[in-house]
Amino acid sequence: MITYRPERPKDGPLIEHVLDVSFGPGRFAKTAYRLREGVGPIDALGYVVEEDGAPRGTIRYWPVLIGGTPSIMLGPVAVLPAHRGRGMAIQLMKLSLAKAAELGHRSVILVGDEPYYARVGFTRVPAGRMTMPGPVDYTRLLWRELAPGGLDELKGPITRAG
Ligand SMILES: CC(C)(COP(=O)(O)OP(=O)(O)OC[C@H]1O[C@@H](n2cnc3c(N)ncnc32)[C@H](O)[C@@H]1OP(=O)(O)O)[C@@H](O)C(=O)NCCC(=O)NCCS
Repeated sequence: MITYRPERPKDGPLIEHVLDVSFGPGRFAKTAYRLREGVGPIDALGYVVEEDGAPRGTIRYWPVLIGGTPSIMLGPVAVLPAHRGRGMAIQLMKLSLAKAAELGHRSVILVGDEPYYARVGFTRVPAGRMTMPGPVDYTRLLWRELAPGGLDELKGPITRAG
């Protein structure tokens, strides 16, 4: 049986394992990690998918500031290699994005493949609208509103929250 559930405090090692296996070494070098340094994930938006009690995938979000306006950054999202293509990541995103909207978050950004994340409503951030704190392929910088007008206020450097 496949179960989607909120992340629990003791899930840390399980999530690190899924991320290590999914991304391989070097994941901490990504520019997105500069926005996570010294900042905790948003507890209420972490989810884990399990099958018969065994972990299959995870999703987390971090708070960020965009030109000083609070937003959230989706990721990392990962599903163990043997279980990809079963819709688990899409479902993790749908659940957590709905929760984020419910909690009052107004927008969400991420760095990833547009054709994939378009499935859950992401589009490309217009060129020049935002800057990341390190090297990034700006055609992969995506956003999605969670409340009407939530993107209108976003412009400027993306910086660490907290
Ligand atoms: C990306 C990832 C989370 C997707 O997990 P998943 O559970 O296999 O995804 P889903 O089953 O929900 O969706 C799979 C579908 O998306 C497609 N897809 C997957 N990655 C894609 C991409 N980069 N671009 C376009 N389509 C993609 C698959 O072909 C599949 O299509 P189908 O439904 O027509 O068969 C998983 O492959 C993974 O963990 N990768 C390594 C970590 C990573 O890169 N994470 C994302 C960056 S934070």
